[in-house]
Amino acid sequence: MRFIDLVRARESCREYTDRPVKKEDLCTILEAGRLSPSACNIQPWRFFVVHEGDLVGKTAKCMQGMGMNRFTDQVPAFIIICEQTTNLKQTVASGIGGHSFAQMDIGIAAAHMMLCARTMGIDSCIIGWFSDKKLRELLNLPNGCKVRLVLALGYGKKAEPRTKRRMEFDDIVTFVETPKKKGE
Ligand SMILES: Cc1cc2nc3c(=O)[nH]c(=O)nc-3n(C[C@H](O)[C@H](O)[C@H](O)COP(=O)(O)O)c2cc1C
Repeated sequence: MRFIDLVRARESCREYTDRPVKKEDLCTILEAGRLSPSACNIQPWRFFVVHEGDLVGKTAKCMQGMGMNRFTDQVPAFIIICEQTTNLKQTVASGIGGHSFAQMDIGIAAAHMMLCARTMGIDSCIIGWFSDKKLRELLNLPNGCKVRLVLALGYGKKAEPRTKRRMEFDDIVTFVETPKKKGE
């Protein structure tokens, strides 16, 4: 499959069957995250996987509230993507230009994992709406680890992706022209 077709085939899935995701498949997806690029190769991510027993349902509840993310009750596996915040090199690197490179790195890792999952027929949804406090308590996450994103993974009910709602190409892309010299 061409990469652009993979990108087109991926969408945020909010309807899952009850088919579980095999641990070996989760490991392949996690490997895609591990191999992602990061600023200064700091690799600020730590991945916590929930895929067994009643912990899955309890984890889903940490992402729900104000009508958000109710669909997570059907999700069979979650990867909790944390930022290791106690790395001095990272703190210095992230200070450059006022960027939070670590958070960018986490987003890139999530994208790698999502797309890797899609190649395996596994659907996903990035979840940014969650309670860090609830997840921390439930999963006993270590200090110095801040939850940045959660990746929901499973087998979607839909066969075909919906039409993507996106801004028009020309509204977001500018090919910057080389200024013409006088007389050209
Ligand atoms: C950082 C981030 C956080 C997101 N958080 C949520 C979320 O909490 N719940 C949800 O249902 N979708 C969430 N999404 C999915 C977006 O709504 C979705 O990517 C967007 O609407 C585009 O749709 P598509 O992914 O199907 O192409 C999130 C996506 C990103 C990148």
